[in-house]
Amino acid sequence: MSIPTPEKRVAAFEKFGFGMFIHWGLYSQLGRGEWVMNQERIPLEDYKKLASTFTASKFDGRRIARIAKAAGMKYITLTTRHHEGFSLYDTKGLNTYDAPHTPAGRDLVREFVDGCRAEGIVPFFYHTTLDWYNPDFNGNFKAYLKYLRDSVEILCTEYGKIGGLWFDGNWSKPGEDWEEDALYAVIRKHQPDAIIVNNTGLSARGEAGNPELDSVTFEQGRPTPMDREGMSKYFAAEMCQTINAHWGFGAKDFNAKSLPHLIETLCACRKVGANYLLNVGPTGEGEIPMLQEALLRGIGEWIGAGRANIYEGRPCGVTGTGKNFALKSGNTLHFYVHDLSVVGDGNVVVADGGTGKKTFTGVGDKIRSVRWTDNGENLAFEQDGDRVTIDCTGYPYGTNLVVRIAEAEIE
Ligand code: GLC
Repeated sequence: MSIPTPEKRVAAFEKFGFGMFIHWGLYSQLGRGEWVMNQERIPLEDYKKLASTFTASKFDGRRIARIAKAAGMKYITLTTRHHEGFSLYDTKGLNTYDAPHTPAGRDLVREFVDGCRAEGIVPFFYHTTLDWYNPDFNGNFKAYLKYLRDSVEILCTEYGKIGGLWFDGNWSKPGEDWEEDALYAVIRKHQPDAIIVNNTGLSARGEAGNPELDSVTFEQGRPTPMDREGMSKYFAAEMCQTINAHWGFGAKDFNAKSLPHLIETLCACRKVGANYLLNVGPTGEGEIPMLQEALLRGIGEWIGAGRANIYEGRPCGVTGTGKNFALKSGNTLHFYVHDLSVVGDGNVVVADGGTGKKTFTGVGDKIRSVRWTDNGENLAFEQDGDRVTIDCTGYPYGTNLVVRIAEAEIE
């Protein structure tokens, strides 16, 4: 048995490493999450009225792409249509439940794509497969699937080259024939290089589905290492996560994750070679909430401060103690060290240990020298075969990188 080699598009996707997920739709105006229609049993006739107040007055695709870039993200996956059934794109007459038929009067997917391109960010489209609007979803499923394919065909033909399609909702009818082959054939016909994902949801994390898919998903979880031995094809892995407790805007959701948590999660994903797709929920008017933007910018500053090789760096069989690990790209080996303390005067610094010798095993290379990437300080180390022990100094007073990176020079 052997490990299949990734197709070119899949290998490129893995190197994106870090992306932004955006959940935005009519529901954002209510500020109680994207499932509000379902959870509060709002009748469709009432819910639909949200289209008449949807102005997108603060939606700026370019500004969002700039925030993603500042965060160190390489791609953005936008909900072009979520379970509510409303489309942010021009459905070209498939129905009138779309952004051009609201007071916004614009094709918001076009603005999103243009904004991404201007900033060098790759646009991906999330598209629901579950639909609370179209009566065919429960009445005439075959007709619904045709409508779904026609919708996706618009996305594949109207916006130039896109990064991929991200489906979500097949878990709603597990026994049904979703005619997945026909849906993916539409994409392959127009966008042969697009990544195709179909979220397996909370109950089936990491499971590979249809062979046409390119990545497995780990919704709201810690991705586990993929065992690709003997697989029919190489699947990438992606973990999507909310920045607070909801995907769609939650006006009263104060449960934002902390910056250290987000940095560690990014590291935990890259440790196993998975992409991290971190969600933001813009307001009804289309603006990323300030706190969420600040957290994203913080992650970007961390990536810059430690020159983290999270894009090119791949797992290389090196294991450290605790959360520590290493990534390799070409001839560069980076050790990721967690939980170091700040060194300084005992009256100001809480010295809770954390510094000292850290051991890594499985190091195949002969190490010549090791230094912190953030300040260039050389570190003492010992190597015994594939076992490397680095004497990790603490953070100089005034800094704390949460996860600190030591770069090894290889012989
Ligand atoms: C779930 C939810 C959905 C969200 C998705 C993101 O499947 O139904 O609201 O879009 O997760 O992964």
